[in-house]
Amino acid sequence: MMQNRANHFDTIADEFNGLWQMTPDYRNWMSETIVSVLDLRSDECFVDLGGGTGSYTRLIAKKADLQSPALCVEPSKKMLSQIEESDHLKPVHADALSFCTSEIRYDKILLKEMIHFVEERKALFQGIKRQLCENGRVLIVTRPKNTPLPFFTAALERFAQGQPSVESLEKELEDAGLRPFSRTEEFSFGISKERWYGMLRNRFMSNLQNFTDEEIEEGIVQLEKTFEAQTIIAFRDRIIFICGEPL
Ligand SMILES: C[S@@+](CC[C@H](N)C(=O)[O-])C[C@H]1O[C@@H](n2cnc3c(N)ncnc32)[C@H](O)[C@@H]1O
Repeated sequence: MMQNRANHFDTIADEFNGLWQMTPDYRNWMSETIVSVLDLRSDECFVDLGGGTGSYTRLIAKKADLQSPALCVEPSKKMLSQIEESDHLKPVHADALSFCTSEIRYDKILLKEMIHFVEERKALFQGIKRQLCENGRVLIVTRPKNTPLPFFTAALERFAQGQPSVESLEKELEDAGLRPFSRTEEFSFGISKERWYGMLRNRFMSNLQNFTDEEIEEGIVQLEKTFEAQTIIAFRDRIIFICGEPL
């Protein structure tokens, strides 16, 4: 079985909020870091581009005590349909490139774990620069090419191939007239081995989507050589926070 990139998030939408990136400690740490790095204030207009199920959008809006509803912009209808009325968000069904040609203005915009899906980043960053208020800020939350996540070798290679480098993202921001600055953070935790293997089988991340069932099983056999004696896999998630401010 293989999945196309286009329907990947439609396929995993129902279980997206149950993934490890959604555990309370991780969500707390991540959303607080985002509010702090974005310097998000309660009177500002905030956009979460590629906001998925709005799970982080809601949390960030709450932590920053936003006065107006945050926009969750998302091309997968199924991801967007997880947003509830009580979330007080404004869901927008659009992809990044069409959104960045609209006439909207905002103070802060977040691109969390989505930049590797956008090939036309020049147009994207130029559009964001045009839409951002003078004292605005864009924040890209992403992972380095050499992630320490416990994937099997072929999945690590696929991950690295699909991930733009920090240097290229910073250069592209600068070319669009956005002064870049970055920092890297790590978050450590453990996950039950069976749960991790189940997530690999469900192809929870997009680097896994084109592996066949047989290739995933071969990958798990490879991981078992390292983790055979363990029931819990301990690992670090390394996250890069890349900001851009209008020059
Ligand atoms: C890994 S998920 C992250 C979701 C959310 N930002 C979060 O951290 O919970 C990646 C999201 O990017 C969205 N996406 C993919 N291609 C996109 C594009 N061209 N424009 C906007 N969003 C896109 C996917 O539909 C998916 O919801």
